[in-house]
Amino acid sequence: MKTAGGSDAAKRRAGERAAETVEDGSVVGLGTGSTAAHAIRAIGRAVDDGLDVRGIPTSFQSRQLALEVGIPLTTLDAVDGVDLAIDGADQVADDPSDPNAAGDGALIKGGGGAHAREKLVDAAAGRFVVVADPSKLIPTLERPVPVEVIPDAHSVVADRIRALDGEPTLREAEGKDGPVVTDNGNLVLDCAFGPIDDPGQLGPWLSQLPGVLEHGLFVDLADVTYVGTDDGVEVREY
Ligand code: A5P
Repeated sequence: MKTAGGSDAAKRRAGERAAETVEDGSVVGLGTGSTAAHAIRAIGRAVDDGLDVRGIPTSFQSRQLALEVGIPLTTLDAVDGVDLAIDGADQVADDPSDPNAAGDGALIKGGGGAHAREKLVDAAAGRFVVVADPSKLIPTLERPVPVEVIPDAHSVVADRIRALDGEPTLREAEGKDGPVVTDNGNLVLDCAFGPIDDPGQLGPWLSQLPGVLEHGLFVDLADVTYVGTDDGVEVREY
């Protein structure tokens, strides 16, 4: 359930600006998706130019790209901490008409099904930079929330979601019969709740359902969003 829209040029500006903030000697979380990919490529170019950095990928996709562009990789259990994480989002709670960040930077992630590892790495980072194009900003989150469930749990969790007036849809694969299977071997329910006025309440409720590995609501995690525009980058701190 990838987001559609948003110009690649805007995504590239956001990703490349975020990559410029990577400091020599740091450990960096490498996000997933088309916007984070621009940051990973830019970090790879900086490594070619002598930057000393170690990356922690958040998915098979970001690992493959990091290897391709020559970023040395490590793992969470091999480092003392993560200095910075750069990652995309499917929606960012922020009012695009307000020059000062009016939202709180809560996110919906998981359009690529990578939100469990993304949350693990992004939450471990000293600073979490979201990279986005303007189509991602919205005052109130409203996209279906991706919920990763262990395979045996999908029907039980779906029933619990419906009991809360949510509409769960098992994500179907493209290029494979049957459902999407995540990097962790699980399934994804895209759960529509309509406008989400209080993601800080919905998130913990989803987390406590038996069989749920992780959901795509990221609350109080983002420090800043770099929004690529037609001619630059808007920086929105939270
Ligand atoms: C991956 O599961 C997602 O959380 C991505 O970070 C999100 O879908 C953003 O992807 P794009 O930058 O391709 O829109």
